[in-house]
Amino acid sequence: ADNKVYRASTTAPVNIAVVKYWGKRDAKLNLPTNSSLSVTLSQADLRTLTTASCSASYTEGDSLMLNGELSDISGARTQACFRELRARRAALEAANSAFPKLSAMPLKLVSENNFPTAAGLASSAAGFAALVQAIANLYELADSPAQLSLVARQGSGSACRSLFGGYVAWRMGEKADGSDSVADLVAPASHWPNMKALILVVSAAKKGVSSSSGMQQTVATSGLFQQRITQIVPANMKTMEEAIKDKDFATFAEVTMRDSNSFHACCADTYPPIFYMNDVSRAAIRAVESINAEAGKTIAAYTFDAGPNCVVYYLQEDESAVLGAFTGVLTGVSGWKEGSAGAKSSVKLED
Ligand code: PMV
Repeated sequence: ADNKVYRASTTAPVNIAVVKYWGKRDAKLNLPTNSSLSVTLSQADLRTLTTASCSASYTEGDSLMLNGELSDISGARTQACFRELRARRAALEAANSAFPKLSAMPLKLVSENNFPTAAGLASSAAGFAALVQAIANLYELADSPAQLSLVARQGSGSACRSLFGGYVAWRMGEKADGSDSVADLVAPASHWPNMKALILVVSAAKKGVSSSSGMQQTVATSGLFQQRITQIVPANMKTMEEAIKDKDFATFAEVTMRDSNSFHACCADTYPPIFYMNDVSRAAIRAVESINAEAGKTIAAYTFDAGPNCVVYYLQEDESAVLGAFTGVLTGVSGWKEGSAGAKSSVKLED
């Protein structure tokens, strides 16, 4: 019998949205209520490294170790990714009898993040992107990043954008089966390579309301949400894509900040309200405002996901102004952590 161990590894980077995905029109397939757009950060700073292996000798069944601990893979999202990838491998095996029957073997995944998993730094995006890419490599699938984004999307919506580096859109699509809800490269990192992100770790605690339940509550109870998905986001997508093509930082920054504010306003508009930002988050917003006022132009943009941590986008040439101001303003603010768990400076883009 074939008891060989087949193995492949990959890394996937974190992405931080500048036009946010928030709301599902189909929770089973992770189909969004709106398109979104993100910037993929450098793997050197924030990434998941995943090794996928399979063998008939793995008698315990499928498993996933995340940062040294056994992780629950029974959830529908992870199962959907396994099922989709196995089906694609099985199609190759059916077409070529010389291919070993990897699709029938248990899978063993070993994943490590080079950043705190619990810190709410979009770890699920890098995590599912790496899981899908590692298994695709193991199975020697010929699928393009766009095709794999359809699988990663079913693990975690934002993960579909981490299949590409640079500036990435997730087109919401129209079809009920999700076959057109796919990630799409707007521009490679090399198009606008001096973009950088500063990550302010306000709290390393796990987020209070998961993105899935936060989205569900927003769709069900927020009155502002309809305006966001029908008017605000479509306009932001259009302006953002043009700003990226033109390398217009002031417009990129304004849309980024407005879109984050709109998303958090919808969360506050749910009943009961959801608050992801805290006092330290709001201090970071004020700090960005004073940096821009001081500079006399917009050189920094804040954005927040489903947690209190702040990501600030800026251009390399403005680094000293942005980083200097942050150390000044936030030193001594209660809840603010510096040092290894604190501000992560100089995060570059990934191609
Ligand atoms: O991929 P999820 O289900 O964890 O949702 C991510 C939601 C946000 O991070 C808040 C926005 C986004 O577009 O990444």
